[in-house]
Amino acid sequence: MSFKKLDLFRGITISSDHKDPLYLQIYNEIRNAILKGRFKAGIRLPSPRLLSKIWSVSRSTVLLAFEHLIVEGYIETKPKSGTFVCQHIPDKYIEVQSENAVDDDLSEVKIKYSNQFEFINKRFREHRKLVDIPVPFRPGIPDKNVFPISKWRNASNSIYRTGLLESTKLPLGYSPLKENLKEYLTVIHGISCKTEQIVLVSSTQQALSIICDILLNSNDGVVIEDPGYIRVQSALYNAGVQVHPVPVDKEGLQIPSKNEFKKPPKLIYTTPSHQYPLGINMSLKRRFELLEYAKEANAIILEDDYISEFRYSGVPKTPLYGLDTGNRVIFMGTFSKLFSPALKLSYLVVPERLIEGFETVMSMIHRGPSIHDQATMSLFISNGNFQKHIRKVRKLYSEKRNYIIALLKKSLKGHIEIQKNNAGLHIIGWLPEGVSDLEVSRFMAENNIVVPALSSYTLKSIGNKGALLFGFTGWDIMTIEHKIEKFCLLYKEFLKGR
Ligand SMILES: Cc1ncc(COP(=O)(O)O)c(C=O)c1O
Repeated sequence: MSFKKLDLFRGITISSDHKDPLYLQIYNEIRNAILKGRFKAGIRLPSPRLLSKIWSVSRSTVLLAFEHLIVEGYIETKPKSGTFVCQHIPDKYIEVQSENAVDDDLSEVKIKYSNQFEFINKRFREHRKLVDIPVPFRPGIPDKNVFPISKWRNASNSIYRTGLLESTKLPLGYSPLKENLKEYLTVIHGISCKTEQIVLVSSTQQALSIICDILLNSNDGVVIEDPGYIRVQSALYNAGVQVHPVPVDKEGLQIPSKNEFKKPPKLIYTTPSHQYPLGINMSLKRRFELLEYAKEANAIILEDDYISEFRYSGVPKTPLYGLDTGNRVIFMGTFSKLFSPALKLSYLVVPERLIEGFETVMSMIHRGPSIHDQATMSLFISNGNFQKHIRKVRKLYSEKRNYIIALLKKSLKGHIEIQKNNAGLHIIGWLPEGVSDLEVSRFMAENNIVVPALSSYTLKSIGNKGALLFGFTGWDIMTIEHKIEKFCLLYKEFLKGR
């Protein structure tokens, strides 16, 4: 690589103060340089190692940017030769970009987002910088290495061998999987329901959008937990309903007073088995109070049980669904955490009186997850592989959890207080009073460590005490150890520099 060419790369500034994550800045810079003709077809790019030195970023950050550029066809790798700008981007396209300087003009184009989108967009941008980066300790990422890939492939192959499945007649999901789930729910959660009550959806957000479509008008109120799951907040703001964030205490979601809102809420979203993100298991007393509140308000409760497979000790409490006598609870579970969010496979148990609404909306507006993946999952469960997988993953995560707790306690005694939860895929560490969790989280993100701040999940202020989330599932023990060491050094440096 000549010095002249290297200068092209030295001229690029990558900064952790920028609104975009580092890898996205690199991706954008290289892509724009190609489209504007500064990087000609066929030129060889410097190695990721050299670029990481030039830009003072990690090699994995450069590799991530490269991966995106390769997938989109801007650059290509040649074995034993390196990475090159692709030959096949039409010159015409490149000239148009260069003459009209499209990217420079973009800042002039005023896009007026809708009010609700403005809010969602702002939160998402912040979240992407501090949470949605696939490095330790991003919470809730399943360990890729335990995905039972060959068993899954075998199950999937047998489904495809029978030919393509008919999906239009199955708007609410693949019947054999619903049968499997019915049995699973009885054994694991003590939930008894009819097969027809089970609905397969692709995500929590989709479940909320469907429920809003069926039951809510634009000014109806929805109670949600604060702090809470940001994707739930977004789905509800997007639906244009009145969002009522309600605080959480040691017993779970606090019960609003009778006249707290102008009109009673129509929907209550809650995570009683493991409040997200605080990890609180809602007390039995609070569960009954919530059901009573919902009855008086004539509201439906959406009980998001996203994590009950990951209880490491103690006996699980009966879900709200099992305690309810008024047919007002929708129970939701997911395969995202046990397998992978990439499967897009979650399920609901809906009261019988709502089945018709779900059927209409899932035929006319929303479409559920892939019928083939549902059939694969069904076969996987029938073969007995599902239960084996749960046992394996639970054991692995329990070991990782014990390990990270011991490390944090040893190295940060007196600086961070570890909260005792007996379930979940992340640990909560409380910071001393006055230490801003957002500032620590930002400082760590600049150093390629993701420890989301509790404040990132709140809509209203949570007071003086902040906390950090340490997801421990997505990485092996050695990586966890190495990154905790780095975190500890940086944290002490942060405290000194305040
Ligand atoms: C509170 C909560 N509910 C549900 C989910 C699962 O979401 P999905 O079904 O969209 O994969 C998550 C994933 O992080 C979560 O944090």
